Amino acid sequence: MRAVDITSPGAPEVLQLRERPQPVAGAGELLIRVAASGINRPDVLQRTGHYPAPPGASDVPGLEVAGVIDCGDAAALAEAGFKVGDRVCALLAGGGYAEVAVAPVGQCLPVPAGLSDIEAASLPETFFTVWSNVFMRGRLQPGETLLVQGGTSGIGVTAIQLAKAMGATVIATAGSDEKCAACLRLGADHAINYKSQDFAEEARKLTGGKGVDVVLDMVAGDYVAREVECLAEDGRIVIIAVQGGSKAGFNAGLVLRRRLTITGSTLRPRPVAFKASVARELREHVWPLLAAGRIKPVIHATFEAARAAQAHALMESGARVGKIVLTW
Ligand SMILES: NC(=O)c1ccc[n+]([C@@H]2O[C@H](COP(=O)([O-])OP(=O)(O)OC[C@H]3O[C@@H](n4cnc5c(N)ncnc54)[C@H](OP(=O)(O)O)[C@@H]3O)[C@@H](O)[C@H]2O)c1
Repeated sequence: MRAVDITSPGAPEVLQLRERPQPVAGAGELLIRVAASGINRPDVLQRTGHYPAPPGASDVPGLEVAGVIDCGDAAALAEAGFKVGDRVCALLAGGGYAEVAVAPVGQCLPVPAGLSDIEAASLPETFFTVWSNVFMRGRLQPGETLLVQGGTSGIGVTAIQLAKAMGATVIATAGSDEKCAACLRLGADHAINYKSQDFAEEARKLTGGKGVDVVLDMVAGDYVAREVECLAEDGRIVIIAVQGGSKAGFNAGLVLRRRLTITGSTLRPRPVAFKASVARELREHVWPLLAAGRIKPVIHATFEAARAAQAHALMESGARVGKIVLTW
């Protein structure tokens, strides 16, 4: 099969289309003939040598695909209600930039009605991440306020739409006025340009001084102290990335007085059983919203797989709202 290899750690050009042996589906797994592969920021970190594949995962990058079931563990397929030929999208621990991918059956979901393969391939990584962090870990409730850092990122466009659909008020941050306008178009109630405004001060103002209930943080570093300042009583910060640095100092007194929670998680190394539990919740609570068009995939651009280097260069340029997808 053809796959996009990281030939050595480095710039986008190290991504090259090569022949690789086709993977084999083991117990509880299925093979997907891939039509489209989603790109996520962690793929860029893997390409540059800062995020190696976890033990047992393919060294081919790519955390999500959509395509058709080719074959698999018959008992596991039947138990999940799938059959050969069904269109699915899947969360992977690696190996997504390939014509054929192997996935645990529990990490596969049907392609929501009405969605293309490209749209379906853009879903798993951000929907599993946002659901498990904002709703399971952060316990966001209807009527609460969510602050989403990086509102136009792949994660951000999912977080804005999901939180709105679940009845929360959403404040999003972005690095330009154009991106702020895009956050509002996606349904955010308020958008803050973090380059020209102090997001913590603005968030407190926008909540009448009460503060926000949950922060989805992909920056960390000195953001954590400012997020602590703008949290409401019993507020939660969920850290999913440390783009601004992993060391954070903050006012611990506020944590006690306001009973705050600072937590976080990373999806890729979690066990299949955990990811399967997230998949079940997504299928029940979120897939009907996608099929009904109440939440929409946001695709910024598509590239043929042979042009994966150009796709990564676009990813790193930052000039983008939503997802980039490779096609086969
Ligand atoms: N923990 C997990 O399980 C998990 C899973 C998937 C992804 N992630 C992480 O989540 C982040 C988003 O992933 P993605 O694939 O959606 O990436 P992406 O589309 O490349 O987005 C990166 C975002 O970070 C924002 N950003 C950078 N510095 C910022 C700052 N100082 N203040 C506010 N926003 C800032 C950017 O905003 P502007 O463009 O507006 O500047 C951009 O929207 C990445 O860091 C990724 O590694 C974590």
